[in-house]
Amino acid sequence: SFCPLNSIRNMLCRAGQIRRCAASLSHTISKVAASRQKHTLPDLTYDYGALEPYVSAEIMQLHHSKHHATYVNNLNVTEEKYQEALAKGDVTTQVALQPALKFNGGGHINHTIFWTNLSPNGGGEPQGELMEAIKRDFGSFQKMKEKMSAVTVAVQGSGWGWLGFDKDSGRLRIAACANQDPLQGTTGLTPLLGIDVWEHAYYLQYKNVRPDYVNAIWNVVNWENVSERLQMAKK
Ligand SMILES: [Fe+2]
Repeated sequence: SFCPLNSIRNMLCRAGQIRRCAASLSHTISKVAASRQKHTLPDLTYDYGALEPYVSAEIMQLHHSKHHATYVNNLNVTEEKYQEALAKGDVTTQVALQPALKFNGGGHINHTIFWTNLSPNGGGEPQGELMEAIKRDFGSFQKMKEKMSAVTVAVQGSGWGWLGFDKDSGRLRIAACANQDPLQGTTGLTPLLGIDVWEHAYYLQYKNVRPDYVNAIWNVVNWENVSERLQMAKK
């Protein structure tokens, strides 16, 4: 038989369940939103000393735990300020934050790629499709290395040399970027292999002789990672 009291009790119970569920959902959403805003320093998959003798443990430790970490922290600070400016509709502050976003965002993007481009088991020559593309676009692996080394050594002041993929033409390209300008965000090329020629990347070991550092780094290039990046870029 129908009992109005039971029916009301059931309805209240369901409403309570829905309220609790909604509260839990909104808590989860805000946690996800907060976690998405925070960038973190990625772990290396090898020890700081693993790239010796080509890159010293001291350079790797400072480069990763101090320099890259600073880009990550400053990117988070900049994004927080940007969110505030966005919420207020403050376009002037948004525009003023652009250089910091480019510098710290680029620093984080570039170094994150760089660590995976290197491996203690690296060096040698690339295989398969990547090697075919290098031969097609540069004539030979040796010629590509020479061109990329020359462009990278010639970077004025601080910056990066890159092997990138041009989606429009389907070709590989060599490019140089100043400061921490990220390759894709500033040229449209998809980054495959980057060589950091900021002095923090080599000075403790190679002093002013940047060409020696660039020549040495080919011994620890992780060609499997570069190949994977090419496969991803082509998709
Ligand atoms: Fe660096």
